[in-house]
Amino acid sequence: MSGPLGSGVCRLGAGASLPDWVPRLDRTAFGVAWKAPAEHEALWLIPEVAFARWARIPAAGEAELLRIAVDPAHRGKRLGQRLLEACQLDLEAEGITHLYLEVRVSNQAAIQLYRACGWKPCGRRPGYYPDGEDAALYRRLP
Ligand SMILES: CC(C)(COP(=O)(O)OP(=O)(O)OC[C@H]1O[C@@H](n2cnc3c(N)ncnc32)[C@H](O)[C@@H]1OP(=O)(O)O)[C@@H](O)C(=O)NCCC(=O)NCCS
Repeated sequence: MSGPLGSGVCRLGAGASLPDWVPRLDRTAFGVAWKAPAEHEALWLIPEVAFARWARIPAAGEAELLRIAVDPAHRGKRLGQRLLEACQLDLEAEGITHLYLEVRVSNQAAIQLYRACGWKPCGRRPGYYPDGEDAALYRRLP
């Protein structure tokens, strides 16, 4: 694990094994826990409390936010915002400045977080999720 990068945030790169609390929080937040980061992926962590998982395309200067989750007991304390801003700064330092994500249109907590961190809406995918809900697309550009 590299870090801390500031503000108590650490980073886990490809091939690193996940601390137990990450799949636990993954299941709590999304119902399914993803595996250890693949070659193009990285996780940023506030240990025991929050993680953000990204897929990066360094050659294109792009990255996609795949998942961000804060432990339910610690939501509403600006930890999601602190984590997301730390990711953005760290990616920017790598020359990755074009950031993208998709989110359920009903997920207002996440959408407000993204807007607070400078993300702008850039499209919609109708019926994107298995239950038929639309995805809203957001991006953050320099
Ligand atoms: C989305 C999530 C990561 C937000 O984390 P958080 O630490 O609670 O958010 P923060 O405290 O940093 O909030 C930052 C801003 O986001 C917005 N926000 C956060 N929670 C909100 C809520 N429940 N309702 C409306 N806005 C909310 C607010 O604008 C807030 O700024 P404010 O404090 O000035 O009002 C968290 O709710 C979570 O883990 N949800 C489940 C997983 C998920 O849906 N992830 C996103 C899809 S991948």
